Amino acid sequence: MIPVITIDGPVSSGKGTVARRVATGLGWHLLDSGALYRVLGLHAERRGVALDDEMRLVDLAEQLPVEFREGGNDTAVLLDGEDVGQIIREERVGELASQVAVLQPVRDALFARQRAFAQRPGLVADGRDMGTVVFRDAPLKIFLTASAEERARRRLGQLKEKGFDANLATLIEDIRTRDERDMQRAVAPLKPAPDAVEIDSTELSVDQVVERILDEAGARSLT
Ligand code: DC
Repeated sequence: MIPVITIDGPVSSGKGTVARRVATGLGWHLLDSGALYRVLGLHAERRGVALDDEMRLVDLAEQLPVEFREGGNDTAVLLDGEDVGQIIREERVGELASQVAVLQPVRDALFARQRAFAQRPGLVADGRDMGTVVFRDAPLKIFLTASAEERARRRLGQLKEKGFDANLATLIEDIRTRDERDMQRAVAPLKPAPDAVEIDSTELSVDQVVERILDEAGARSLT
């Protein structure tokens, strides 16, 4: 049995940062499943495949020439050998990802690829359905949330760091709309697994969240 910790939660809940820190802390592998959907969206766009052409998208997903190279602080994402780590973070590519992600056959096509990330000594898997679908058998499942206001503030901070201007009220509204869409969608809706530990990070620092997760892992003898 290879131990897996799943970390699911809504947009801007800090999952990515927390998942990387937990993986580094434990010396485990990391799966950023959102990156997989982003790479697929980008690949489809480049190949001129329509985002509702399920059959061709499934083909692309099955053959996706993607490689994740784990480094210390980040992971290089290679598509056909090209480093697309920056491009896939663009808002535009996030939109492509969210469109391919609503198609069940596409999700099924990525299932085995995601499962294959479970390698010794262990895996931290970050996404929306890691605990509910992909690693249903994981011994520790985290559902990470924070209030919409707090998530919008964090997002505003990130945007300002990158030199973009944005408005807090608009960001809060965007986050609420996306939450609604993510939780109501028919396919793999965002929801905590019944056996997930819910952590509300509104009042917590990244360090505190990471510590809490490592404690939970320790309590289950995973560390
Ligand atoms: O976490 P992210 O923003 O990189 O995710 C990009 C898109 O992929 C987002 O629209 C949600 C979707 N996604 C998903 O449906 N299931 C996952 N396990 C991860 C991401």
